[in-house]
Amino acid sequence: MARTRIGSDRHKEYPPLKRIPTHVAIIMDGNGRWAKQRGLPRIAGHRAGTENLRRVLRACVEFGVKVLTLYAFSTENWGRPEAEIQGLMSILRDVINRELQDLHKEGVQLRHLGDLSRIAPDLQQQVLNAIELTRDNTTLILNVAFNYGGRAEIVHAIQEIVKNGHPPEAINDELVSRYLYTGSLPDPDLIVRTSGELRLSNFLIWQGAYAEYYFSEVYWPDFGKDALYEALKHYEQRDRRYGLVK
Ligand code: FPP
Repeated sequence: MARTRIGSDRHKEYPPLKRIPTHVAIIMDGNGRWAKQRGLPRIAGHRAGTENLRRVLRACVEFGVKVLTLYAFSTENWGRPEAEIQGLMSILRDVINRELQDLHKEGVQLRHLGDLSRIAPDLQQQVLNAIELTRDNTTLILNVAFNYGGRAEIVHAIQEIVKNGHPPEAINDELVSRYLYTGSLPDPDLIVRTSGELRLSNFLIWQGAYAEYYFSEVYWPDFGKDALYEALKHYEQRDRRYGLVK
């Protein structure tokens, strides 16, 4: 990932916010349109989107977000052209090769959400090694949703619950949550989608039940620290009632 795109927002002052979401989840959308606008192939958009990860990660640490979940590859994305799929696989490989040591030094704990079994065995191993290396880090938990789908996640959780012999009367919200890929992590407080699309696209459909949502017109490669701060400012204004009356 290039380190030069951090840009002019790096030294800017951001007034402190009264309330910071513990867990932010992002649907990183608009890479293809970003590339098209510039007459570039779609994969160039994904690469630009990848460069943006570091900016957003740093900004999350600076603003005090504790868990960041990124939707990198959905179970539906297998339907894209083979070249794009392979490009996204090689981006994942490159990110691990180039960024892992720095992420580890910065205290980032990497986790994976989804089904690894469909990706190449050596890449699966790289992901597992990265998770193992960073497992005790505490600055920020970074969940990468890769070959992830919310419905598949719930189906998988039900299968595991049945396999483990839980009787029907023992099945409740808390048990189901525990069997999801997110396990004991807190639910997302804020779910952001970039690029102006107003959909969830099978992302964290269980965990997002009481999340606040923020939709930005900005394409993901351009969604930097300023844009994230703007999202956090909106979140600060939200009145979270969880179905209750105040
Ligand atoms: C959606 O944009 C984006 C994706 C399907 C891929 C997102 C992946 C990255 C940013 C790569 C880095 C991720 C990791 C952690 C390996 P789109 O292609 O649907 O854009 P469009 O709607 O404009 O076509």
